[in-house]
Amino acid sequence: MTEIKINTKRRKGVINKNIYGQFAEHLGRCIYEGIYVEDDGIPNVNGMRCDVVNALKELDIPVLRWPGGCFADDYHWRDGIGEKESRPYMVNTNWGGVVENNHFGTHEFFELCSQLGCEPYITGNVGSGTVQEMRDWIEYMTFDGDSPLANERRRNGREEPFKLKYFGVGNENWGCGGNMRPEYYSDLYRRFATFIRNYGEEPIYKIGCGPNAGDVAWTESVLKNAGRFMQGLSWHNYTSEGDWEHKGSSYDFNENGWYSNLAEVERMRDKLKKHIAVMDCFDPEGKIDLIVDEWGNWFECMPGTNPGFLYQQNTMRDAVTGMVILHMFHEHCGRVQMANIAQMVNVLQAMVLTEGEKMALTPTYHLFRMMKGHQDGERVGIVYDEDRYEACGEKIPSLSVSASVKDGALTVTAVNTRLDSDRELSISLDADYAGVSGEILTSENMCDFNSFDEPDKVSPKPIDAKLSGGRLTVKLPKMSVISLTLK
Ligand code: AHR
Repeated sequence: MTEIKINTKRRKGVINKNIYGQFAEHLGRCIYEGIYVEDDGIPNVNGMRCDVVNALKELDIPVLRWPGGCFADDYHWRDGIGEKESRPYMVNTNWGGVVENNHFGTHEFFELCSQLGCEPYITGNVGSGTVQEMRDWIEYMTFDGDSPLANERRRNGREEPFKLKYFGVGNENWGCGGNMRPEYYSDLYRRFATFIRNYGEEPIYKIGCGPNAGDVAWTESVLKNAGRFMQGLSWHNYTSEGDWEHKGSSYDFNENGWYSNLAEVERMRDKLKKHIAVMDCFDPEGKIDLIVDEWGNWFECMPGTNPGFLYQQNTMRDAVTGMVILHMFHEHCGRVQMANIAQMVNVLQAMVLTEGEKMALTPTYHLFRMMKGHQDGERVGIVYDEDRYEACGEKIPSLSVSASVKDGALTVTAVNTRLDSDRELSISLDADYAGVSGEILTSENMCDFNSFDEPDKVSPKPIDAKLSGGRLTVKLPKMSVISLTLK
């Protein structure tokens, strides 16, 4: 029996709902086919697939990042407005060299956000764009008055300004966004950010390009040289089976593949702590947020698919590592104010996979739906023994648990990372609740996934939890995630 103690009197900060954000790039079949369709008989509203949008609405997505990714620093917004037939084509040089017709552009992105009910987060082009191009895009989108750019927006069908809260000044400018040194990027950031004017009522929240994985030197330099001009600093960290050259298969792995992925997650924890320590040093008042705007499992792409499309399967391993990482963000919710898993549809650790008119929801989709009770909840004190074991060079916790309260309800989520041992949780509570409900996500085999023929192979089931005398008991089988709501 594993003893867990929840102390709701100990409040440990708000879990910003934006931690459950998403990312959609012009990459492979994420936007085209996966979200946006034209003339192929798939039911849609203004081009957005009804099946995909309806499924995603269940996740209460708070914020969506677009158009990239590496694509963002090659994207010229003017190519994506106006009559679709007259929009110029471009070559998507980052992702498979395919031709992009620009039919999904600014207006279509805001339409998608409005259908999903989420905040838009746009990343601008620093790598190959100009300051003028970026400042004009902001005016085009957000100016309410009488200006040539605002009037052009009106002619393109949008009278009211778009509401834009989050804007990223470049993406991975240490790599695909220009291979810059941090000092150079910092100067560019300062210049570009100056011209991101606030036309609307709410000031635009500016996000600087942060480090890759463990590159704390980038964090230090950008914070030192440009930190005072930004509200958020991004961070990208992908996880695989540990070796970038051999990322491992997304659906055909052995026990070592399971544990090496979890070991990578522990290394990610370490890197996160290091970046936060640097931020605490340069920004002791905590004015700058950490925005983990790309994270997730990145495995080898599915055999026979375009390697530039980053299409991979999604198993129980993704749900398990996903919960460990989301709990990690909860633990650092003072600094981590947004995270955007890569990516929403058909790319990397996706929520939804599509093939023609077919759609499958992944274990990661179910995870995000099961965890949504934490969005904007107040994290509360929780004491338990993580019971770490050694695997693949790391000490991996067998168990990770997180709890938060919101509107009088307590949400508890827990994951058992082991392949070989079930657990019985005995959770002592410090408040009275009338009842408990919850779900469990697990599967017989670690490599199970939801295919188009078997879309419910890995799907949540109601959980049998017992509540009596201020104590909750529940079974947490090997390789499972659970979520409980007490009211
Ligand atoms: O998400 C895929 C790619 O990963 C993004 O385009 C880039 O920013 C990162 O390297």
